[in-house]
Amino acid sequence: MESISLSNGKNIPKVMLGSFQMNKESDMEAVVEEAISKGVYGFDTSPSYKTEESLARAVHKALSKHTDVKREDLFIGSKIDSWMMMEGKGDIRKYVEDVLERTKLSYLDLLLIHWPQPEYLVQTYLCMEKLYEEGMVKSIGVCNLKVRHFNKLIEGGATITPHVAQNEIHPFNTEEELVSYCKEKNIVVQAYSPLCRMIPEIKNDATLNILAIKYGVSVAQLMLRFHTQRGLVPIVKTSSPKRVSENTDIFNFTIEEDDMKTISLLDRHFKMFLESRCCPGY
Ligand SMILES: NC(=O)c1ccc[n+]([C@@H]2O[C@H](COP(=O)([O-])OP(=O)(O)OC[C@H]3O[C@@H](n4cnc5c(N)ncnc54)[C@H](OP(=O)(O)O)[C@@H]3O)[C@@H](O)[C@H]2O)c1
Repeated sequence: MESISLSNGKNIPKVMLGSFQMNKESDMEAVVEEAISKGVYGFDTSPSYKTEESLARAVHKALSKHTDVKREDLFIGSKIDSWMMMEGKGDIRKYVEDVLERTKLSYLDLLLIHWPQPEYLVQTYLCMEKLYEEGMVKSIGVCNLKVRHFNKLIEGGATITPHVAQNEIHPFNTEEELVSYCKEKNIVVQAYSPLCRMIPEIKNDATLNILAIKYGVSVAQLMLRFHTQRGLVPIVKTSSPKRVSENTDIFNFTIEEDDMKTISLLDRHFKMFLESRCCPGY
């Protein structure tokens, strides 16, 4: 699969696979095996998903089978969860050392702050900058930030612009302001929940269904192509190897400009992850 360049020159695949609620080890193995055999090399995990180790085991297994694919060909991202930020008071080095030891991955391609916990957002990011400079993580970034949080990082003395911003983005929540800000700052945006989890409102949406028929693709493929044409990297989760192919076979059609606009008009600021104590947004 083709990739996009991050501001530090590293490459990130145009579509990545998520692992939230990928609870069965057998599903993980089957999905990762299918992905690697199809040239899909980007994977997203997090301590809170409890999939860091099962993903790594599946990756090591697939690499031992596909000897032409190397660890360096893959792009594996994990996160720093809120409890780590709080417990370490922003010093999150030991958690990164721990995940590298548990997963035997040598390094992470991407380390993200999962939620902008206000008390330790800046300290955590400054610690991540050090780990990046030491090569323990190849790129760094943030999730669920608004523009004001980026300003907080700058005011707090951050010297490296995040390479990646990961946010909930789908046709019902297009995040125009954030995407424009990131484009201007050369930050690659990853769209999480890119299918809006296929809730009935999106699955049955008339506009999406009419356009999917027009392009001869599934509603899921239409949404994923919508993201990539905006220059975003969708992180899509499936437990089905068959859907790995469906969700990544999206580069043989182009959504016309007018249709891109029509899809953008579905935006209604609908989010599944509402701001709360667990999902701080202040
Ligand atoms: N940074 C953050 O705060 C954050 C928050 C949430 C998620 N994420 C990341 O983003 C990833 C994706 O988000 P998500 O899991 O919330 O939602 P999603 O990828 O939008 O949707 C996943 C759901 O869609 C179904 N699905 C997948 N492909 C399909 C297809 N082609 N046709 C029909 N249904 C399909 C899946 O079912 P099957 O499994 O049965 O295929 C699953 O129920 C997560 O796994 C995680 O890695 C990050």
